[in-house]
Amino acid sequence: MSARQGLRLFGLLLLPLLFGVLAVGGVLFLRQGGFAPYRIPRDSQRTVAVDPAILARGEYLAHVGNCAACHTTRGGVAFAGGRAFKTDAGTLYSTNLTPTRDRGIGDWSADEFAHAMRNGVSRDGVLYPVFPYAHFAGLADADLDALYAYLHSLPATASTIPANRLDFPANWRPILIGWRMLYYRPVASAPATPPTAPDERGRYLVDALGHCAMCHSARGPRGSLPAEGYLAGGSIPGVGWYAPPLDRRQLDRYSVAQLADYLRYGTSDQGSAYGPMAEVIYDGLRVLSADDAVAMAGYLKTIAEHAQPPAQPASTEAPPADTVVAVDGRAVYKRACADCHGADGEGKPGVYPPLRGAVAITAPDPLNAVRMVLYGGLPITSQGNPRPHSMPPFVQHLSSAEIAAVVNLLRHDWGGRPSDLRAADIEAMHGIEID
Ligand code: HEC
Ligand code: HEC
Ligand code: HEC
Repeated sequence: MSARQGLRLFGLLLLPLLFGVLAVGGVLFLRQGGFAPYRIPRDSQRTVAVDPAILARGEYLAHVGNCAACHTTRGGVAFAGGRAFKTDAGTLYSTNLTPTRDRGIGDWSADEFAHAMRNGVSRDGVLYPVFPYAHFAGLADADLDALYAYLHSLPATASTIPANRLDFPANWRPILIGWRMLYYRPVASAPATPPTAPDERGRYLVDALGHCAMCHSARGPRGSLPAEGYLAGGSIPGVGWYAPPLDRRQLDRYSVAQLADYLRYGTSDQGSAYGPMAEVIYDGLRVLSADDAVAMAGYLKTIAEHAQPPAQPASTEAPPADTVVAVDGRAVYKRACADCHGADGEGKPGVYPPLRGAVAITAPDPLNAVRMVLYGGLPITSQGNPRPHSMPPFVQHLSSAEIAAVVNLLRHDWGGRPSDLRAADIEAMHGIEID
């Protein structure tokens, strides 16, 4: 057989493989929406009606949807962008949403805006999924128009947004098409007008506008959000806090009214919001109307329970002698914690949260509990909680061994979690960034 014949035979053998790859690629490409997401409606001239009621609704939606929080830097002009987001692949920055023509949305039509919100593709290219477009895809036409009208009513503010610092290949936007083929399945359809019946409204606010699943779902590979992880709880990439499952078992200890309070005010008799959840409420949910808060709470309490999240595997190595916890957690609790959280972890209604059943105590991951003890917390100030009581940081007052002992005790006794933190584990968490 000549070299040329050999090559030909080789080519014939490869052909089915090539067709196979193309066929699979084609199917995956169709499943992420085909070509439609990449056809930006640049020629559309559609304008939206503007009146004070529409602008007020747009402003409400922009807060509940947390656009303000993600698109504003600390101390910066609201909606002018530039906030940094850390991901496994590096840091990226949010964009300017004010109507400036210089990298803002000043010359975008209403259709171009709606297209970016629903498809995650804008004239700047394919967008990173830190922008919760997969959730916003479910927003009603009328709500997208109200958001557009509100953002266009803001003062146009030029802002300098740092260039993203992402590793190769994540820094190359077209690679996101591959990510979408593997992990992104578009929402089937969005309503023309937002639902008003309380149960549907609750689901709409949680799933579409509130994008609660961004933090509260169990993530799959490469930051994906597989359907089976929906609101099943997980650690939030980039920040390390653990967000609990949202379902009727987790939220059983709240009445609908208490849960609605938690969502609007950040505090309730069952616990207060801290870490990223405090931010979500402070910058956003705080403006919720009473009806919307109750609708969300009602929906959350109907979600079927997820399988219990597995406990962190207990380490099997024998701890080095100098880090063995030889401290009585009970004595530490009595001395340092019981005054506020109660001898039996029952808390003080309206003042200090209970620890029995608290997220940090029952979570599969001990990080929230350790963070709270190290650095303390101040619930947010809100209409429903005008003078919040704080928890002091213990990083200077308790040794790492004492912190490990008390957290192990509480998680074991009141959370039903095996917990074998050692002084060295606490030390390793000393460096975590406080946000
Ligand atoms: C969790 C943070 C987060 C939230 C919440 C969020 N965004 Fe963004 N958004 C981003 C980031 C980050 C980008 C930049 C993505 C990129 O560069 O690929 C972005 C991009 C965008 C874009 C594309 C802009 C362009 O120039 O291409 C639009 C439009 C947008 N966001 C609108 C909104 C609106 C409206 C809301 C509220 C309903 C909102 N975003 C909520 C983080 C967020
Ligand atoms: C940026 C990430 C983030 C987003 C977005 C987010 N959460 Fe949370 N949430 C957390 C974290 C972390 C906790 C655990 C800390 C705490 O309890 O305050 C939490 C706790 C909670 C709790 C307390 C559960 C319990 O058992 O006490 C509720 C209820 C809740 N979130 C509801 C929501 C809803 C509803 C949304 C959407 C509107 C939402 N969260 C969006 C991060 C987030
Ligand atoms: C001065 C009163 C006070 C003392 C003392 C105190 N706490 Fe707290 N604790 C609070 C408050 C207030 C919060 C809510 C903080 C927030 O929402 O930011 C809290 C929250 C917590 C949480 C999070 C609960 C949840 O909902 O997930 C844990 C865990 C915790 N405390 C453990 C401890 C431990 C352990 C000690 C002793 C080492 C202690 N606290 C001492 C007031 C106190």
